Amino acid sequence: MCNTTNIITVDGPSGAGKGTLTQLLAEYFDWNILDSGALYRILGVASQLEGIDLTVDELSNESGEKITLTARSLDVDFKVNQQSKQVEPFLNGENLAKSIRTDDAGQAASKVAAIPAVRDALLARQKDFAIAPGLIADGRDMGTVVFKHAVIKIFLTASAECRAKRRYEQLIKQGVGANMRALLLSIQARDKRDQMRPVAPLVPAADAFIVDSSELNIEQVFEQVLEYIREKAPNFTSK
Ligand code: C5P
Repeated sequence: MCNTTNIITVDGPSGAGKGTLTQLLAEYFDWNILDSGALYRILGVASQLEGIDLTVDELSNESGEKITLTARSLDVDFKVNQQSKQVEPFLNGENLAKSIRTDDAGQAASKVAAIPAVRDALLARQKDFAIAPGLIADGRDMGTVVFKHAVIKIFLTASAECRAKRRYEQLIKQGVGANMRALLLSIQARDKRDQMRPVAPLVPAADAFIVDSSELNIEQVFEQVLEYIREKAPNFTSK
């Protein structure tokens, strides 16, 4: 277990650049990564494999209970891909790195994530990632719930329009057809669900360093964050 002084939390809405910032920080410090969103995404996939319809607006209590049981027994594993250096998630031994990255999987994740008992069921699993020498934890409630004693808490945000545009450009680059308006609506729906839920809503921790990346590229974001860390936690040193 690493102590709470060796944890950096990176929270914020989808598409603000948290994943890339987390990766850069993990490489810089040579620390571990927790991609908590991947856990919720995998749970969404696992629930759908069990026949639960996550496209409905309101989940029934019965579905909520089934999803919670699935969360408790989820056979999930994270392994570093030695070539790409990215952490890849596995469900029952199957690599889901690509399939959980769709917008539908993001919507499904945000539905299962709104169930309080599900969040409870995944809490200990997330805390287990705090292994020496340190952890960069990426999510929505890393600084407010899961690692609320972390010394460094970053909240990375950007306007919904800007996040939709980035996602659009990313999909076009991958040769995947995309619709800007549909992406914007999807991002706004997910933001709303994440911000309005009663348990662990998406809000910056009171002691978070807030960075708006709307007008910044990822190198500028990384520099601002490093400068803040150097000032607030000078004992955090690069590898
Ligand atoms: O970060 P990512 O986009 O992969 O997260 C997918 C969804 O999982 C989010 O929209 C959110 O609803 C949920 N989530 C969460 N708490 C976290 C991480 C993700 O509720 N710590």
